[in-house]
Formats: sequence, structure tokens, C-alpha cells
Amino acid sequence: MTVKLGLIGCGRISHAHGIAVSRIGADKVRIVACSDVREEAAKSFADAYGCDRYYGDAAAMLAAEKLDAVVLATWPAQHLEQIEMCLAAGHKMILCEKALATTGEDAVKIWDLVEKHGATVVEGFMYLHHPLIAKLDEVIAKGDIGEIDWVRSCSSYYFPEVASADDASRSWRFKKETGGGVPWDLACYTVNAVATYAAQLPQKVSATGSFSANYGTINRIFGTIAFEGGRTGVIESSAGATFNQALEIHSTKRTLHVETVFTPPGDTIVRELATVKPSHIHVKEHEVESPLTLQDDLPTFYCYQAQMESFLKVLAGAAKPKPALSQSVVNVITIETLINAMIEEKVLPVDVPQRVRDAWLRDQQA
Ligand SMILES: NC(=O)c1ccc[n+]([C@@H]2O[C@H](COP(=O)([O-])OP(=O)(O)OC[C@H]3O[C@@H](n4cnc5c(N)ncnc54)[C@H](O)[C@@H]3O)[C@@H](O)[C@H]2O)c1
Repeated sequence: MTVKLGLIGCGRISHAHGIAVSRIGADKVRIVACSDVREEAAKSFADAYGCDRYYGDAAAMLAAEKLDAVVLATWPAQHLEQIEMCLAAGHKMILCEKALATTGEDAVKIWDLVEKHGATVVEGFMYLHHPLIAKLDEVIAKGDIGEIDWVRSCSSYYFPEVASADDASRSWRFKKETGGGVPWDLACYTVNAVATYAAQLPQKVSATGSFSANYGTINRIFGTIAFEGGRTGVIESSAGATFNQALEIHSTKRTLHVETVFTPPGDTIVRELATVKPSHIHVKEHEVESPLTLQDDLPTFYCYQAQMESFLKVLAGAAKPKPALSQSVVNVITIETLINAMIEEKVLPVDVPQRVRDAWLRDQQA
């Protein structure tokens, strides 16, 4: 049976999902309907990916269509409202683009709604599905690295602020109300990455950064996360510095280094650095093949295909969501606390509700 998807938000990232679904094949999955407030964008998406119908109103699509799942490819600040809409219309399986939400309160509301409806929401951290992550997991599991001590993750991209603040059509990245700015666009990856490898709940954070004078969005954030088990995460994210997605996992016997972790450019390498004696470092390289070749301006699209394949397994009951929703909720709470720590210039505790903590611990053991 072909899985039938509905997609909301036919902007830039929708094409990654459209290509992913096309590559998996119409015998397995199709986007049968799509919607966008810009109806012309919905029409052109429908034309490009062979959707049966398109809509200018997501609620109309959700009411009219029999769907197995919904893909939310809209702005972070809209996700709570749109998840509520999906659930109210009886659509309980949702793949939601990052960031899940832009406040801890919204993220916990999503958590409670999902629990109440027996629904599934998977946040679209596509990089988790790249073979690079499987290779890192394999190297860590082998045990040669010893005990993980601290993890550093960077996600920077130079976004020149050329659009006028009066220009309503400027990118969502430069608008506060959509969830624009570095925290929910870029830093959400870094927090997810350090938490994935620290594998502990966050306890307290500190941060520094800056606001865009043009748009009021946060355009740089640098922070430290102290985890409950004693590990430390360092996150660095700037829209004022050139592309950088370095990940370093520092442990008692090794440092693992990946140059581009979130959008790997095809085949890539995990470097395993061992200090033989001070200033003498032995480097071992683990090559990682990406199964598909580059395509146009979406060199990372393989991640989206692997993400969709994983989501299809979740729909079939054959796999658990990756990331678990508990991790996504903790991620949002951690980012919000980093923002508050930056604004208040204080070290702040990360306050995760007990029910989410309990689920996080269960998911960690699963
Ligand atoms: N995983 C990734 O690699 C990746 C990359 C880029 C963006 N994203 C995420 O994808 C989301 C969208 O980003 P984008 O760059 O594609 O933005 P975009 O502005 O290009 O696209 C968003 C689309 O949503 C539409 N929209 C707005 N309100 C709507 C509504 N109420 N109903 C239906 N459609 C509506 C807009 O008209 C637009 O076409 C964001 O959450 C972003 O963080 C993820």
C-alpha cells in the first residue's frame, strides 16, 4: 500500500521532501496533497511532484484528505498551531521540520497534545539519518575512545543582512515572528548534536551572543551546557561567519572530529585523533560513503531520503522516531534557556518538566 502524505508549506525545504519522496518511489509513498498560503507555490509544488490536489488553506486540505501522515515544512513559530490543527482533523502522524517550537511552553504543549491524542511527532533533524552518524555511533560503541568528556558543535552560515526591515517578503530567517534568527535556524542543530553525544539531561547553561540591529533577531549565540552527569557541551552559531559545521567529541582517549556534520557534502570522513604523547597526535580516518550523488543545490538531499525512509518505518510500527519527541522538547527548552542566559547574562538552570524527563530517560534506555 502506498503511504499517502499531505504537505503544509511549499517553500524552500519542501523540495527536499518532494525529491526524497520521488526517489523512494510512488509504489511506496506519495505526496497526494499540498498546501500553502501562497496558492501559486502549492500549485507549482503539486505540478513538480505529481500531487493529486493543492490547497491555499491547510485546514481545508486536512479536512478533505485521507492521509497517512502530514509533513510540516513551515516556520518554527507555526508548528504548535499546525500540529493542533492536524490533531483536531484526526491526522496523528506528523513529520515536523526543525525547530519543533520556539518556546519551551509551546514544546511542552506539543508534548501534552501528542500524549493526549496518542499521536507521533518526529522533528526533522535530517542529519541524524546520514550514514556519518551511524559511523560515529560505531566508532564510539567500539570503546577505544574511552569516556566522553565534552562535545563541541558549530553551525554557522554567513547570512548578509541585505533585505530592508520594511520588506515583508524578506526570508523568515530575518523575522522574529516566524522563529527567525540563529537559535531556531542553526543553533538548534548544535544543541541536538551535543545532547546526542553527551547523552545526559542538561542541568544549566550560560551564553553570549548578539542581536541583529536591523531585524531584532538573534544573529549570534555561543553557549555552554553543563549536563547532569558531568559532561559539557559547547555550542557556537553565527550568521556573521562563514559556513562551519564542525563536530568534536572529546573523550579520555580520543577526539573524534567531523568537518561537516549537518549537511555532509557526499562522501565524508570521521577523524579519530589519539594523543600518543603531547604534540604527537595519531590520526585515523574512517571513510563514510554517502549512497547517493550530489544534486543541484541540494547536496545533502540524501539525508532527507533517509529521514523519510525512517519516518515510513515509524508509520509502519517498525522503528522508533529519531529523534524521540522527548529529545526534541528538551532541545527546545535548552535553546530557550540559552537565549535567556544570553539576555540576562546569567547561568540559568534548565527546567524540564518531570513527565518529559521521565520519558527522556525511558527513550535513552530504549
Ligand atoms: N532540515 C533542513 O535542512 C532545513 C533547511 C531549511 C529549512 N528548514 C526548516 O523548514 C521550515 C521552513 O523553512 P523554509 O526555508 O522552507 O521556509 P520558506 O519560507 O522557504 O517556506 C515556508 C513556506 O510556508 C508557507 N506558509 C506560511 N504560512 C503558512 C500556512 N499557515 N499554511 C501553509 N503554508 C504556509 C510559506 O508561504 C512558504 O512557502 C523551517 O522550520 C526551517 O527551520 C529545514
